[in-house]
Amino acid sequence: MYYPDDVIEEVRTRNDIVDVISQYVSLKKKGANYFGLCPFHNEKSPSFSVSPGKQMYYCFGCGAGGNVITFVMEYENYSFVEAVKMLADRAGITLPEVEYSKEAKAQADLKNTLLEINRLAANYFYYQLKQPQGKAGYEYLRRRELSDETIRHFGLGFANKVPDDLYRYMRSKGYSDQILKETGLFFIEERGARDKFWNRVMFPILDVNNRVIGFGGRVMGDGEPKYLNSPETKLFDKSRNLYGLNFARTSREKYMLICEGYMDVIAMHQAGFTNAVASLGTAFTPQHAVLLKRYTDQVILTYDSDGAGVKAALRAIPILKDVGMSVRVLNMKPYKDPDEFMKNLGKEEFQKRIDQAQNSFMFEISVIRSQYNMQDPESKTGFYNAVARKLLEFPEKLERDNYTEAVAREYMIPADDLKRLVSALGSQMGTGVRAREYGEAKPVKKKEKEDGIKKSQRLLLTWLIERPELFSKIEGIISPEDFADELYRNVARMVFEEHEKGNINPAQILNQFIEGEEQYREVAALFHASLAESLNNEEQKKAFCETVKKIKKNSLDEQSRRANDIVQLQKIIRQQSELKNLRIDLD
Ligand code: GTP
Ligand code: MN
Repeated sequence: MYYPDDVIEEVRTRNDIVDVISQYVSLKKKGANYFGLCPFHNEKSPSFSVSPGKQMYYCFGCGAGGNVITFVMEYENYSFVEAVKMLADRAGITLPEVEYSKEAKAQADLKNTLLEINRLAANYFYYQLKQPQGKAGYEYLRRRELSDETIRHFGLGFANKVPDDLYRYMRSKGYSDQILKETGLFFIEERGARDKFWNRVMFPILDVNNRVIGFGGRVMGDGEPKYLNSPETKLFDKSRNLYGLNFARTSREKYMLICEGYMDVIAMHQAGFTNAVASLGTAFTPQHAVLLKRYTDQVILTYDSDGAGVKAALRAIPILKDVGMSVRVLNMKPYKDPDEFMKNLGKEEFQKRIDQAQNSFMFEISVIRSQYNMQDPESKTGFYNAVARKLLEFPEKLERDNYTEAVAREYMIPADDLKRLVSALGSQMGTGVRAREYGEAKPVKKKEKEDGIKKSQRLLLTWLIERPELFSKIEGIISPEDFADELYRNVARMVFEEHEKGNINPAQILNQFIEGEEQYREVAALFHASLAESLNNEEQKKAFCETVKKIKKNSLDEQSRRANDIVQLQKIIRQQSELKNLRIDLD
């Protein structure tokens, strides 16, 4: 523990969960709870709930859940300590100073240590760039027309030619091989250790909170691979971070520019387009779209003008549309990418291209058009059919008609004929096609299947929290020790204890599990099962009785397996037979 329990509890209670989450998600009150669009997965109808009573949140779509501290951890990608600091700040609470040795800290919070090492590495690379041994790197960047100010702004650096330079530096700072392995910056083997990045210019990758989570390194000139990136680590999840977003999030433009490469982002920012971001050497993902949607609902794709760039744009468009983005596509021709465009035509011309950027649907149509030969009647008909199918992706008639007219105008197709073709094709295909195309994207995180007994334990705990009068019904039957799953047993102990004291507080109980990172998700989900499965009809009342019996039976079976004296065993057998006749009347 970094901070005493009561300090953490004060931080939690002084930050109302509805207030805090409202800063990030637009919430609407419905009954006792608030609902909104889940910030952790793609969705069009709200399944994200916040309970002011419990001071907890839960998403029925993806299973994300927790209290105010875990929300900030998840949303801002903060560690536990960072989240507590941020919330303490928000509530005007002064946290006590806590000092730890390097080893204790590494144990307590791996993530913070990894951030610390990355930050040191970034500083080291940056320092090297300005040294005599970094001359080649510095000259390379200057040749690519980056100013000193840009190099400083993006923290660009240089990994020199000594094979284990950075490694030895980190060891001198006291970090162990075990932790250095986790950074992805080194190859550590029996025979010795080497730096992953060698003789490259370095691009530190920052998350939205300006923390260094990884690196990209480019060879100077030709060589393979052109870019080398940090592997995925506990900090670095390529599908959840965008290069340049730390700056772009505060740009004043209403839209963001999405491009392919580090150099493109940097060239655009240098030219004043500080709203440019890039995915990190991977394709654009639904998580990227969710992330961007926090800051804007309009994007312009500035992908390379080659075939790969067009393909990447075609893939990204539906992903962006799916989260409700309006998407346009910029024409980079005759240049390959934003970096080259900027060098050759400059920022005024680039601004013009932004202003002229094509609606993403019209872009898709133009790509389809390029696959058909309009001189050939059969091919031309094929094009019209393909256009009609594409138009059918609009579920709303009005919108579909507007686009039909726009396409007809642009490709000089008689509008009425195209409309007729669209509706003929539409009735041929039925509605199934469209329903699938426009269905909700699958939640990013999947709920794990639980076995029956675990589910029973979870249900019972949930019911007990929701309706404390149920404790009297299970008195003498169930105790915390009957919960077979260790995690649930720990939670049960706290729940029973708090019930004794007269007040069960799930959000507080959750605090005990936050530092176990993975555990709190399960505990949080446990406290929210009730919202879906409350005890309001006969069937469920029967279910309560069955659930109690199932848990008890499981517990007695387990005890009898472990029993080693006959008196104990007889007692268990008696209890087992009593259990068969057990009735619990809830009314
Ligand atoms: P420059 O040649 O420096 O201008 O880079 P670019 O951005 O024009 O390169 P390109 O379009 O080839 O690549 C776009 C992005 O893909 C880069 O910024 C990298 O993130 C990634 N990338 C390119 N080449 C490689 C590679 O060899 N390996 C990996 N992992 N990623 C690469
Ligand atoms: Mn380039």
